[in-house]
Amino acid sequence: MCGIIGYTGDGDHVMDVLLTGLSGLEYRGYDSAGVAISEPERTAETEPASSRAGVASTPAEPSAVAGDVTVHKREGELAALEDALPDGSVDGAAGIGHTRWSTHGPPSDANAHPHTDCSGHVAVVHNGIIENYEELREELAADGHAFESDTDTEVVPHLLERELARGADPEAAFRTAVSRLAGSYAVAAVVAGDETVYAARHESPLVLGVGGDGHFLASDVPAFIEYTDRVIYLDDGEFATVTPTGVRIADERGNTLETSVETISWDPEDAGKSGYDHYMLKEINEQPEAIRDCLRERVEELSGSVSVSELDDVSLVRGSATDGDSTGRLRPVQFVACGTSYHAALYGARLLRERGVPAQSFLASEYTTDRVPVSAETVAVGVTQSGETADTLRALREANRAGAETIALTNVVGSSAARECDHVTYVRAGPEIGVAATKTFASQQVALAMLAAALTDGGSQALVESLRAIPDGIQRVLDETNARAVAREFVDSDAFFFIGRGYDAPVAMEGALKMKEITYRHAEGFAAGELKHGPLALVTEETPVFATMTDSQSGGDGLSKILGNVREVEARGAPVVAVTDQPEAVGGSADHVLEVPSVGPAFTPILANVQLQLVSYWVANELGRSIDKPRNLAKSVTVE
Ligand code: F6R
Repeated sequence: MCGIIGYTGDGDHVMDVLLTGLSGLEYRGYDSAGVAISEPERTAETEPASSRAGVASTPAEPSAVAGDVTVHKREGELAALEDALPDGSVDGAAGIGHTRWSTHGPPSDANAHPHTDCSGHVAVVHNGIIENYEELREELAADGHAFESDTDTEVVPHLLERELARGADPEAAFRTAVSRLAGSYAVAAVVAGDETVYAARHESPLVLGVGGDGHFLASDVPAFIEYTDRVIYLDDGEFATVTPTGVRIADERGNTLETSVETISWDPEDAGKSGYDHYMLKEINEQPEAIRDCLRERVEELSGSVSVSELDDVSLVRGSATDGDSTGRLRPVQFVACGTSYHAALYGARLLRERGVPAQSFLASEYTTDRVPVSAETVAVGVTQSGETADTLRALREANRAGAETIALTNVVGSSAARECDHVTYVRAGPEIGVAATKTFASQQVALAMLAAALTDGGSQALVESLRAIPDGIQRVLDETNARAVAREFVDSDAFFFIGRGYDAPVAMEGALKMKEITYRHAEGFAAGELKHGPLALVTEETPVFATMTDSQSGGDGLSKILGNVREVEARGAPVVAVTDQPEAVGGSADHVLEVPSVGPAFTPILANVQLQLVSYWVANELGRSIDKPRNLAKSVTVE
């Protein structure tokens, strides 16, 4: 997830507009930032000596002077880019900007966008993932194109350069270049001496701003709401040609499309939240996009295979780590994690155990190698959104000292966990600003499902179909949920219980954690079978019980067992909310039903969790809590 901005209009303000836009998009990424401005035609005498884009070593000069496109880019937050800009930097007719959240290549000046072609006459920014970039890179390299970054994006300016060299006009060249891309993209380009911004989208957001002094495009409205509230949302497969005087939307063949301009009613103050009252609600709604990004390049529909390239060197076959004889048994996997990430780890360990791997999850704060047997045969996986949680880092370091092979499963490229572990795989959820983890939990679950398949049987058609169905399934939950009404019903309750079995058990625990974090109400979540071993003593007509009952349990006798648990709490007068994909089977036993679509055993609980996130959110909202920054809590816990 990255943020892009484009502007064409008042030539004196292009840089200001781009920088303001990027500051409104930093919630989408902040590990590097850059801008490119297409200047008006220049004479040969004033043409800069260098014709190849690159990164300048001294901040006093533009990062790159590339023909008539000037590029400035820097690793780090937007402030680092702003500090590096020379006074009186060149302004021009049209510009594009980017704030990055890395997926290909670590944060660095070279990997920052915009990326340029060999001649430096074309600059491109991109949000999304180009799945066929390796193949395109090989093809272009064979044609003599040279690459300077590790990114997937860099193929785009070179494709565009090739089309321009073949004589195409910029608009046609851009359309042909984009037609070669597989994957997801919101992509924007400028060409030297041209005051147009060319843009296209497929499965990544892109919105145009229609202004008085020019026109804008961006990943999200906050980037330009200061200048205009009139917007056009682009659909998949649409192209935009944006000039100072107008906007043309076309289809893949260049035919002009009719579009309507909408007026946004948000206050600019709230724009960072895209009109949502809280980042938490926005991030809950970003889950379909986050999961699509997590799945990209890793699942292959036709062959039904899952491959996580970052884990290609990991083998769970015993002996593979020690050069000993393989006994045919699999190496033990130990997950270490805290909080929400621990709930994801419980889910991941269960997935591996189902595939015959001896896998366990440990609370990182309880994990010490004098109590847990660790050897060179052990694979230790740290599940950590931030990659900076002190308890998790300590546990990983201990496992490493005891000889284990370590894997970080994290959201932050370049984080301590990512740097210190032997291997790292990213969940690609984009930045999460709300303190309560939401989209990162869903992405961790999906990343763990892929890790489990990649390290064992390589997946199956059914698995890939289920994984691919999750984003649309979540979208349905978001569109059809009645969580707000359920939340209103129970807003005065002082205590909540969450129960589930099998894959639903970690979701019950996560449901309770979310509820206590943001509502400050007492909440407990546990495997439903534990009810009668203690918690039942607390169940009364005042304590709502949320029972997650999905098809993840229907393979065995789980569903009938949890219905038995539901009857136990009903007998004590407790109101029951069923979170289920099987309302006919269980709905009759509940006072309320939060329905989810079925996406296959083991994965439907990911959707059930979204309903629980929404219930907690709406209870907290009714209570007027500080939802994005709950009391006493921090986003990253860097002390043990
Ligand atoms: C809860 C939450 C925390 C974190 C925990 C671990 O909403 O966000 O429980 O999950 O502090 O953090 P990471 O995943 O960054 O290691």
